[in-house]
Amino acid sequence: MNLIIMGPPGAGKGTQSNKICKEFDIPKISTGDMLRQAQESDPELKQILTSGELVSDQKIIQLLLQRIGQSDCKDGFLLDGFPRTIKQAEALQDAGVVIDGVIQLDVADDQIVSRMAGRLVHLPSGRTYHVDTNPPRIAGLDDETGEALTQREDDQELTVRRRLNVYHSQTEPLIAWYRDYFTNQSGSFFVVNGMQEVESVHDEIKNLLMQIEN
Ligand code: AP5
Ligand code: MG
Repeated sequence: MNLIIMGPPGAGKGTQSNKICKEFDIPKISTGDMLRQAQESDPELKQILTSGELVSDQKIIQLLLQRIGQSDCKDGFLLDGFPRTIKQAEALQDAGVVIDGVIQLDVADDQIVSRMAGRLVHLPSGRTYHVDTNPPRIAGLDDETGEALTQREDDQELTVRRRLNVYHSQTEPLIAWYRDYFTNQSGSFFVVNGMQEVESVHDEIKNLLMQIEN
């Protein structure tokens, strides 16, 4: 099953991806996580991520196609954060990658800023927490490794607002693009209310994905 999870920054894509991938036993391919891991040795990349702008289509397409060509992706994968532009979606299609389902997580802009202010991440794995709504078992430490959690540099309020603008102008047009895509081939576009509790969002996604599996 080849899946995509989309939605604005802070919609819960990473939170839900981790759960879905465990449950359906497919790898999570998060371009954001991949770029954050690469930024320490690439000052130009770090500057782009900190600004909230997008990395060039050419660079990210190459990185993504290389990643999904690896053997762990042969029975399916979940893309989190890719595609983010119509050009990126077209590149997947041109490469012959068939998508079985797209999950669009809807969250209102005003909820996003407060979510980001409380987010904590475990950078090596991409596991995500929130100080109030989704806290780690021990404050400040990752549940699985016990390693320290950090805040993302792009979670400053001004940068979050810039990321939201980028999302509305460059990524939102993909909603219509994928609705159209599924009129020509099998698969489903699902819209899920991302403003419910984490577990309720997960249950809804799981039930929808079971429709694709059967
Ligand atoms: P990326 O890492 O993909 O960031 P994003 O899309 O902005 O999304 P986030 O990771 O911030 O949010 P999320 O939806 O994963 O939410 P989360 O689960 O963490 O990309 C970062 C940057 O990389 C981009 O700005 C760009 O520069 C670059 N990039 C990446 N891909 C690219 C591409 N394809 N092309 C070009 N550039 C690219 O949840 C957020 C918080 O809310 C957490 O604290 C969480 O605990 C909490 N939360 C989650 N669900 C709920 C809930 N239901 N209720 C309450 N709180 C919740
Ligand atoms: Mg994320």
